[in-house]
Amino acid sequence: MRGAVSTAGGGVPNGMVFTERFARLVPAVKAAPPALARSLARTLTSFPRSSLASSFTPSLTAEPGRLLSSMAALESSTRADALLGPLRQAVHTVPSETRDVLHGRWLGHPAHPALVHVPLGAWISAAVLDLFPGGRKSAGTLVALGLAGAVPTAATGWADWAELRKPQMRVGLVHAAANSLAVTLYAASLSARLRGRGLRGRGLGYAGLAAVSLGGALGGHLSYRLAASVNHAEEVTAVVTPGWHPVGDLGDFPLGCPVRRVVDDEPLLIVRVANDRVHALADRCSHMSGPLSEGELEGSCVRCPWHGSLFRLSDGWNVGGPATAPQPAFETRVSGGVVEVRPRRTSEDLAAG
Ligand code: FES
Repeated sequence: MRGAVSTAGGGVPNGMVFTERFARLVPAVKAAPPALARSLARTLTSFPRSSLASSFTPSLTAEPGRLLSSMAALESSTRADALLGPLRQAVHTVPSETRDVLHGRWLGHPAHPALVHVPLGAWISAAVLDLFPGGRKSAGTLVALGLAGAVPTAATGWADWAELRKPQMRVGLVHAAANSLAVTLYAASLSARLRGRGLRGRGLGYAGLAAVSLGGALGGHLSYRLAASVNHAEEVTAVVTPGWHPVGDLGDFPLGCPVRRVVDDEPLLIVRVANDRVHALADRCSHMSGPLSEGELEGSCVRCPWHGSLFRLSDGWNVGGPATAPQPAFETRVSGGVVEVRPRRTSEDLAAG
């Protein structure tokens, strides 16, 4: 009978039409002892199905929440735009080699998110220890550790910030302001603790934690919503179907000139070099999707026209930042005068022949 539960077979419910998510509970019921399973089954089926369905059905009239709306307002607010240019110039006075270190090119992904754990971890731990009289001395040490860790964390953040688009920079500026406020509060907290004013020190510490939490939320919005500092080319070789794709006659590619071709809706940079050899890279820069086919060739590399990342043509390696990820490279061949490309095969592909 529809809507009923048979408990035959050791209390295992069957014959019930569940919503997709509701059905995921069935394995848990199956794993339970028979008596418990019968009880769980009765509980599950006593839910009104219409209310269950409505709680899992997306509302077509849903609006962004207040938090998301505030973040979106920040992205379009021009109030602090006068600061963006001078701050960017100030960051660019740092030599590009040093900025590459700060971006995390040596690490293969941005260094900023990794370093953030030091101040955040230290300050959250300090907040917990502050709850216990015996832990307050250690809490002071952690506040100091967090302040020390905030210095390189801020340096990496500013280096990344200076290569963002305007809406991202606006959010990033408020992110930096919230974190600067947190550093100020924690410095005051440490000073109060050292002067024996523990209560004030703890209060300032909790205020600092609130500020750094706001900064963290904005940092998350920057990364996950606005795609700042993520690899913008990672999916390319997965999107292009395996196998060889013709991209034009060899004569269509002038020697040493970047040419854009599209394969499976994915733009590629094709460069013919000496001895009729051809290189092919994903055209959208891994840093922020800049069009490499509009960039300059420098020796055996191509320089992105947007922020100057340098990629080796032969294999896509990011010789210079701010890109922290290499550029997807394609295998090429000339067959009967036609240039063909295909995604580089993984070790799995090679093993499968
Ligand atoms: S888009 Fe920034 S370096 Fe290419």
